[in-house]
Amino acid sequence: MTNQDDQFKKVISHAKEYGYVFQSSEIYDGLSAVYDYAQNGAELKKNIREYWWKAMVQMNENIVGIDAAIFMHPTTWKASGHVDAFNDPLIDNKDSKKRYRADVLIEDYCAKIEAKIDKEVEKAAKRFGDTFDKEQFVATNQRVVEYQEKINSTLSRMAKSLENEDLADVKALIEALEIADPLTGSRNWTEVKQFNLMFGTKIGASAENSMDLYLRPETAQGIFVNFLNVQKTSRLKIPFGIAQTGKAFRNEIVARQFIFRMREFEQMEMQFFIKPGTQVEWYNYWKETRLKWHLSLGMGTENYRFHDHEKLAHYADAAADIEFKFPFGFKELEGIHSRTDFDLSQHEKYSGKKLQYFDPEENKSYVPYVLETSIGLDRMFLAVFSNSLKDETLEDGSTRTVLALPSVLAPIKAAILPLVKKDGLPEIARQIVEDLKWDFNVVYDEKDAVGRRYRRQDANGTPFCITVDHDTLNDHTVTIRYRDTMLQERVNIDALRDLIKQDVDMRTWLMKM
Ligand code: GAP
Repeated sequence: MTNQDDQFKKVISHAKEYGYVFQSSEIYDGLSAVYDYAQNGAELKKNIREYWWKAMVQMNENIVGIDAAIFMHPTTWKASGHVDAFNDPLIDNKDSKKRYRADVLIEDYCAKIEAKIDKEVEKAAKRFGDTFDKEQFVATNQRVVEYQEKINSTLSRMAKSLENEDLADVKALIEALEIADPLTGSRNWTEVKQFNLMFGTKIGASAENSMDLYLRPETAQGIFVNFLNVQKTSRLKIPFGIAQTGKAFRNEIVARQFIFRMREFEQMEMQFFIKPGTQVEWYNYWKETRLKWHLSLGMGTENYRFHDHEKLAHYADAAADIEFKFPFGFKELEGIHSRTDFDLSQHEKYSGKKLQYFDPEENKSYVPYVLETSIGLDRMFLAVFSNSLKDETLEDGSTRTVLALPSVLAPIKAAILPLVKKDGLPEIARQIVEDLKWDFNVVYDEKDAVGRRYRRQDANGTPFCITVDHDTLNDHTVTIRYRDTMLQERVNIDALRDLIKQDVDMRTWLMKM
């Protein structure tokens, strides 16, 4: 087992142990790739959603938010292209009878080569010490250059074959690379086939009157079909955006990696309607703006990178991912797509209704172009959670597990701890809880020695511990302990609210954008 596997296992078990994420219907042995958010997870998820909503809707006077239904008229999905083109290439192993995504098998193969590059870099960094120049090493080291060329040529051949629907070549590539079933090592593969990812269901009580529906595979279409309603009622002028957050459903072939790839998940999407011809400018603007949003959370610039798509989705003329370094390597976290007028034009065609904007400056009507930003809330949750989980060795040689969540997102902002369960200390601690709970999610904790309580709150991600002791009775002060530095300070009880607010306020964090 690699370090990466170990770290990822730790993330999954910590998420369960501390009430963040549970397997859905666990008492019935769970449902594959479906998860429930527990008491802390629901709070973290809500805070991430709010952080996004504030940055996208509240802070932009030309972006409004909606909440469209999950069920949509079935023609929506014909128009959007999902009925015909929302497919993944699947391949079965004849011996193990296991099913895989052909493109994921190839990407995993490349990820292994990338891990080899990382190893070479690590070794060289150790060898050269302070004089090590990573960029130069990667560009000139013979072995690394060969590894990189192999990755590039493999991904580019795959992109071309998928684009041309040449599934025979995708299989040929798997064979040429000698990719084996990760579980059994068998190379006995079937042909590659396309598989539609939408879940079907029915609306209506009787068989004669029922109608076939799909659970939406993206929230975006709820925005497109409401484009004109929103534009007319809000009187927004182009450029303007419509945002929404909500559930989406995909019958993923390979559903693994915990909440990274789920069958039921939540998206946070924004469609920005623009004048045709301005898409390159807005594409660059939104790439940059979204990256700044991520960086404002302070999770390390080195953990993000852009990946420009070679294979474009059926609706896009340019697309890039913001990738994040998850415990299993760099993977897509958010997509920025230049969707042209594809969606609105298709809905015009299928509905027979005009979906155009009258531009007073140009004195003409046109179908706007669209720039989309689309991020998975669950993926963002995993990025934040996995990046925050650390095992630290302290100066005295002891270790602690800390979930160093950005305090703005932490589910519980402060734990209030009476040093002992007597002498009137619990009453004061309860009074502090009563006072702070109007502004923050706080908890009262009196069980175990205070040191153990600190560790419990560290592992839970709580940024502040506030301890009430016997001095409090005399001078109205408490000890505030900071999760990340473990430093302690004596402060007046009346100063607590402002002190916490200054640290966890969304304003403070979003100002860093
Ligand atoms: N409207 C465009 C769209 O849906 P996408 O790249 O298919 O584009 C956008 O999805 C984002 O949704 C991804 O970057 C990812 O964060 C998230 N996402 C997609 N499929 C997912 C899944 N099965 N589980 C969790 N998140 C997913």
